[in-house]
Amino acid sequence: VDIVEWLTLADVEHAARDAVDPATWTYIAGGAGSSRTVDANAAAFDDLWFVPRLPAEPLQHPDTSVSLATSTLPMPVLLAPTSPQRLLHVDAELATARAAHGAGIVSIVSSDSHYAFPEIAEAGSGHCWFQLYPYRSREDMAAAIELAECAGAKALVVTVDASYPARRLAAKRAGFCTPAYVDFGTLRRLGILTGDVPPDARLERLALTWSDLEWIRRRTRLPLYVKGVLHPDDSRRCVEAGATGVIVSNHGGRQLDGSIPALCALEAIVDSVGERCEVLLDGGVRSGLDVVKAVALGADAVCLGRPYLWGLCADGERGIRAVLRLVRQEIADTLRQLGVARLSTLDPTVLARSDDHRIRLISRAPHAASLIAAQTDWKSR
Ligand SMILES: Cc1cc2nc3c(=O)[nH]c(=O)nc-3n(C[C@H](O)[C@H](O)[C@H](O)COP(=O)(O)O)c2cc1C
Repeated sequence: VDIVEWLTLADVEHAARDAVDPATWTYIAGGAGSSRTVDANAAAFDDLWFVPRLPAEPLQHPDTSVSLATSTLPMPVLLAPTSPQRLLHVDAELATARAAHGAGIVSIVSSDSHYAFPEIAEAGSGHCWFQLYPYRSREDMAAAIELAECAGAKALVVTVDASYPARRLAAKRAGFCTPAYVDFGTLRRLGILTGDVPPDARLERLALTWSDLEWIRRRTRLPLYVKGVLHPDDSRRCVEAGATGVIVSNHGGRQLDGSIPALCALEAIVDSVGERCEVLLDGGVRSGLDVVKAVALGADAVCLGRPYLWGLCADGERGIRAVLRLVRQEIADTLRQLGVARLSTLDPTVLARSDDHRIRLISRAPHAASLIAAQTDWKSR
């Protein structure tokens, strides 16, 4: 499908799938185990329905912006850290950073990027965040944090759900092997990688614990986001450790198959820490409609993973820009249809939940798990 015909992110997905070999496609699309959590992440959004209302004022241009600790964004969307992007396009993270900056949003750059972080941050005109994996030792982590700070990272994201290798069975069965042209530029610059990138694109990491997280907090003044939080008690502990935000995530279903879908973990975490830190979410966001659903349930913003990789794969920076234009348009359209003038005023009353074939309105306090039983059995109508 040509870029001008991309009407949904699924169109971009089809274009990307046609552009790469099957093993690479499986590496990107697949997850851990039987990929149940990959599928469930997206399916969780389909269990929520919208309840449009009549607005008080005409709505020409709904305000889709959001303010985070680091900046105000024109829409509540960031680009999740992913690697190896060089599999999909020669410009890899440079294209991603440029596209994000062009759209006024943030690219979170993986420790495992092909290009070194300083070059990527420059391409993104200083609007990037740095995602830290714990390699080898605290000294290595300190050096990585210093590199990120010197290059102008606006925030530090610590991924806590990928300390141990995952059973990525789909990629294994497809015979995925990292091609020789893929590099880990930041890790090479830090001296952490000296030889070839391993065939499974993974270097051994430290087994991260709470004390490491507290140590990282003390090492940097940057806003700190903890990525890979699924339990409300852990989110509270992140706040106590000084986190600016948590990213509710199961790593796009790539670490533990059978993990709770990210959207299903969101409400309890918003309940627990929503007043005290930012709550971001990723996993299964496949349209601007999904973005609105997550924000209505209390997320401050969402991160896109695979969908921007599809854009990168299909048409580099231009492809990612097209993805972001589409998502922003869908967010604005959804708000108008809902009768909501500003994204920042969204609340759960715009949603209803599909539950045992009944549709239930969600009350103003859904986080207290108060679903108001409502309406008819839609299946029998
Ligand atoms: C190919 C690929 C590589 C990824 N690499 C990283 C990474 O280097 N660091 C990280 O924290 N998360 C990584 N993730 C997880 C994403 O940041 C994000 O949590 C996930 O993709 C969100 O789900 P979605 O793809 O359904 O949008 C990766 C995901 C994919 C698909």
